Amino acid sequence: MDHFLYRDGLLHAEDVAIPEIAAAVGTPFYVYSAATLTRHYQLFTDALSPLPHLVCFAIKSLSNVAVLKLLGDLGAGMDVVSIGEYLRARAAGVPGERIVFSGVGKTRAEIRAALEGGIRQFNVESEPEMRAISEAAVSLGKIAPITVRVNPDVDAKTHAKIATGKSENKFGIPIARARAVYAEAAKLPGLKIVGIDVHIGSQLTDLAPFEAAFTKVAELTAQLRADGHEISRLDLGGGLGIPYERSNEAPPLPVEYGQMIQRTLGHLGCEIEIEPGRLISGNAGILVSSVIWVKEGEGRDFLILDAAMNDLVRPAMYEAHHDIIPVVEAAPGTENHPIDVVGPVCETGDTFAKQRNLPALAPDDLVAFRSAGAYGAVMASEYNTRPLVPEVLVKGDQFAVIRERPTFDEILARDKVPAWL
Ligand code: LLP
Repeated sequence: MDHFLYRDGLLHAEDVAIPEIAAAVGTPFYVYSAATLTRHYQLFTDALSPLPHLVCFAIKSLSNVAVLKLLGDLGAGMDVVSIGEYLRARAAGVPGERIVFSGVGKTRAEIRAALEGGIRQFNVESEPEMRAISEAAVSLGKIAPITVRVNPDVDAKTHAKIATGKSENKFGIPIARARAVYAEAAKLPGLKIVGIDVHIGSQLTDLAPFEAAFTKVAELTAQLRADGHEISRLDLGGGLGIPYERSNEAPPLPVEYGQMIQRTLGHLGCEIEIEPGRLISGNAGILVSSVIWVKEGEGRDFLILDAAMNDLVRPAMYEAHHDIIPVVEAAPGTENHPIDVVGPVCETGDTFAKQRNLPALAPDDLVAFRSAGAYGAVMASEYNTRPLVPEVLVKGDQFAVIRERPTFDEILARDKVPAWL
């Protein structure tokens, strides 16, 4: 459920009519619903309430500081994968004790900065990284809490570009090597083993791969404890999928995911951490765009929008589906016609949808891409010198621009022409 609904024939974000925001901000823009973000976060905390837990929002999915503050104030932890994301979480007021540091290529500088600033744990991805964390901790006179991310070799049955839990993927340490790595960790100075980490992929629509991975984590917990390690925390990653197509079968709910976690891991007495991104932010955001032209092609028509692949890259990059709806609700009985929905960027890949059934639209009409809150604005670029798309947050009947559209002067001022040219 989200809070983007038609009211009096106009699409609203909570109590704000989308055309009102469009008039104030111009298109294209992202708009997020505070009520939806809050609700989705709470679905996870409720689902895990029988166990000690921390829900760490994967801020790579939506990293605007205002959104992080909203979630952080509710008590959320944050999962970060770069020092830039760490600084965003801190700027949002989230204390280091609630920030976990994931990512396959943490640099020595990032490790030091996180240790100095305070960090809940590093999710270690390789032996060289583990040794670097030990060295940094010793030189700073700190103890670095760590988990080791294990790769359980489980097929997440999702898009190949976002599956991470197979042995051929770059992520984690092969689970068969885990005991040896924990043995080394126990000997290295400056490290404190706190648990195990696993993340098998994103947009999973079935609980079975999670259950297979978590079962392996339960077995490993017992083995590592028998080896004398203290395993008190299990970080289970993110990955629960969302319904992108309203017409399709809905993926499992957070409550079902929580029950499965209790069933597979509840007996171990560990604190459970999860790192959901998409399920919290995905359906909490839409991308609003205007029609520039409607163009007649050979055997097909094109709806040319002012949003493009640089603003929302998921269709071009993963063949992802996003529902596209008119902001002015079509009158009952209006006929839909198939049309290709495209952006103005000079690539054929700049196609949002082929032969999508939509009511007739005209220049300046507004449309909205649903489920665009996750991996939308964060993956935007300035390709074709198109300014980075702005972001708006709605709460009840209020809205605020939480990231401004840069001006062309700002964009051009970043380029420097050397004096010798
Ligand atoms: N934890 C780790 C270690 C991750 O790598 C990820 C996502 C998450 C948590 C959050 O996963 P989520 O709950 O959002 O599925 N750009 C792609 C998705 C990339 C996901 C990368 N890792 C897309 O637009 O579909």
